Amino acid sequence: MTAEEIKEFFKQNPALKIVLSDKLAGEFNKISLRPVNIKGEQLFQLEKSTKTQVFHENLPYSVAIDRLELNNFKQILFEVPQKSYIFSISKNGYKKRVKANNLAKVDTLHNKTKKYLLNEGDNVPVMQELGIFTKENKIVASMYDKFKQINRFIEIIDDEFKTSNLNDITILDFGCGKSYLTFLIYHYFVNIKKIKAHIIGYDIKNDVVENCNKLAKKYNYSGLEFVLSDVKKDKLFSGKIDMIITLHACDTATDYALNFAIKNKVKYIFSVPCCQHEINLSIKNGGEFDIMLKDGIIKERFSALLTDEIRAEILRAFGYSVDMIEFVDFAHSPKNIMIRAKQTTSKINTKILEKLQNLIKNYNFSQKLYDLSTKK
Ligand SMILES: C[S@@+](CC[C@H](N)C(=O)[O-])C[C@H]1O[C@@H](n2cnc3c(N)ncnc32)[C@H](O)[C@@H]1O
Repeated sequence: MTAEEIKEFFKQNPALKIVLSDKLAGEFNKISLRPVNIKGEQLFQLEKSTKTQVFHENLPYSVAIDRLELNNFKQILFEVPQKSYIFSISKNGYKKRVKANNLAKVDTLHNKTKKYLLNEGDNVPVMQELGIFTKENKIVASMYDKFKQINRFIEIIDDEFKTSNLNDITILDFGCGKSYLTFLIYHYFVNIKKIKAHIIGYDIKNDVVENCNKLAKKYNYSGLEFVLSDVKKDKLFSGKIDMIITLHACDTATDYALNFAIKNKVKYIFSVPCCQHEINLSIKNGGEFDIMLKDGIIKERFSALLTDEIRAEILRAFGYSVDMIEFVDFAHSPKNIMIRAKQTTSKINTKILEKLQNLIKNYNFSQKLYDLSTKK
């Protein structure tokens, strides 16, 4: 048998345990897989070990199978309740031996799957075109992290809009890229919530904007459009806007999005920032936190956290109630803080802005949202 044939066999037959041993090539000495139940969701824990380290990932079965590196091992053990299969490398591929087994059946195996807003098997054809789902509506293994991110994003939005009786909504997405999230948000509001939606995705890349417009047209997603724009320079939509979203919009593009929301009194903001260099590049010793600036990696992370907290404080100063939440598990994206904000008053809290001004003066750094939002 070839490794590909073994993989297909595994996909058809849910395992209780898989162990890959006797390394032929690659980084890992051993790889194993076992079922785990995480917060009611049936997943499979993939464990990959080197000589000194062990890495874990919890994944749906088909995604975990795709991430096994069968070709890199001489010996593969595969166990189901009544049988153990042992595949051993030989001249003509892998040879299979079968032994009787008496393992306890795991009742929960494959019968508890968490319900997401977008689930494996859902027929949302645009998700196939975007490469999130295969033709059979299975999650594409390499897109599992993106699948988790966009599902979590939409779950957080759903928490806010579950009981809302809005009839229509206008949303701007800053730095939409390939627009997995933008399409899913459209699907959520229009197909699930039955709300009329006008959604505009902005990006500076012509090819992604063109492709997204083509897909919106092909699937008749009226009200969804993509515009070639530099969100730092161009004049964007000027009608009433209900929500701003950003998902990993690069560096200060997030600040332009948040400033746009403040200036246009946009009620809802859901923003997951990306890389942020500004404070890291400009901060100088200035007070009690100088210790955090001594070592490069600490300075970088401290600056990134400081950036996000300053963004949250500025939003609070301009009347937003703000939560900073863990967006997805670190394993699915290291850029995993979401700024969730809702405007509750139009009063400006100048005390917050004064405190920030002092902090910026003491440590002598620049922060784009502060500059943009306080500019007269
Ligand atoms: C990391 S990608 C994220 C894409 C998408 N939101 C997602 O999460 O899949 C960041 C996107 O922001 C876009 N971008 C960066 N700076 C921008 C700017 N000034 N104006 C418009 N788009 C920008 C990039 O072209 C890129 O497509």
